[in-house]
Amino acid sequence: MSIYSAKKPTEQEAALFKGHDILSTYQFTKEELEILMRTAGYYEEALVAQKRLYDMDGKVMAALFYEPSTRTRLSFETAMHRLGGSVITVAESAKNQISSTSKGETMHDTFTIVDGYADVIVCRSPQTGVPQIGAAAAEHPVINAGDGAGQHPSQALLDMYTIGKEKGGVDGLTVAMVGDLKNGRTVHSLIEFLAMYDTKLIFVSPDSLQMPADITAKTREKGIEIEETKDLKYAVSKADVIYMTRVQKERFASEEEYNAVKDDYIIDGALVKSFKPGAIILHPLPRVNEITVDVDEYPGAAYFRQARNGLPVRMAMIALVTGNVK
Ligand code: NCD
Repeated sequence: MSIYSAKKPTEQEAALFKGHDILSTYQFTKEELEILMRTAGYYEEALVAQKRLYDMDGKVMAALFYEPSTRTRLSFETAMHRLGGSVITVAESAKNQISSTSKGETMHDTFTIVDGYADVIVCRSPQTGVPQIGAAAAEHPVINAGDGAGQHPSQALLDMYTIGKEKGGVDGLTVAMVGDLKNGRTVHSLIEFLAMYDTKLIFVSPDSLQMPADITAKTREKGIEIEETKDLKYAVSKADVIYMTRVQKERFASEEEYNAVKDDYIIDGALVKSFKPGAIILHPLPRVNEITVDVDEYPGAAYFRQARNGLPVRMAMIALVTGNVK
């Protein structure tokens, strides 16, 4: 059972999203978050029933990915296909450039052009603020699929959906965020949603990878209790949800700096014995060393279920912003 029970949005509810970009979790009201969660539940039921959907029939989604991605891009693309729409994609990295960005075309121009081809644009960039540039250039809705160390709203939405499903609700939960809280955009986004509920947060990170002070301060101002510690064993004994993150190697200035902290926090089978009963482990993935494979057997290891939840959540995002929930 989840607080986010499946429900198709009313016309009034759907109107809150139509034509809007999704750039950051800070733009959401709690009501909007919950409408999106219920719409995701509605699409999950359709997926489970293997219902063929035509909500996005005749529509095109552009995926502009300038940074590596497996789950985010493929689940956005699958979401569009499952909704009966079509997909065009640029998937490139600094080492493998295929678009005119490599010729020096600006993001503003790229979005202006793609806006003429697609009904919705999903974008990932190594630089913060690129989806905002895109949203200013494009008439059609733009969805941020991760911008540098900034925001990753679609991940936070599927994280909330997963917490709702796995724990039944969000109020009263203690959530430990572990690892690279400085560079991890997933935690920067998720914290805003958790702060909408009666939650307690524990941050576990090395000194050099602490949550940016402005985010911590803003969250405390909302009345959320935040404890900061370096002791993972203590944190897992208190937490209902343990949110692991990968140390974001690509955002480090040097290999040495990365190597100094990369293995600071690891959950293995032995540590699971110190967990609060019923605790779940989330991770946006990919994992490197943060969770050993023996932990996958633990019933609360929810990270693969979490990744699957990305599909109905992204279906809801695409259909809502284009005004096509049918
Ligand atoms: C995350 C990301 O890209 O920020 N991955 C994802 O989208 N599932 C986390 C990460 O790369 O560590």
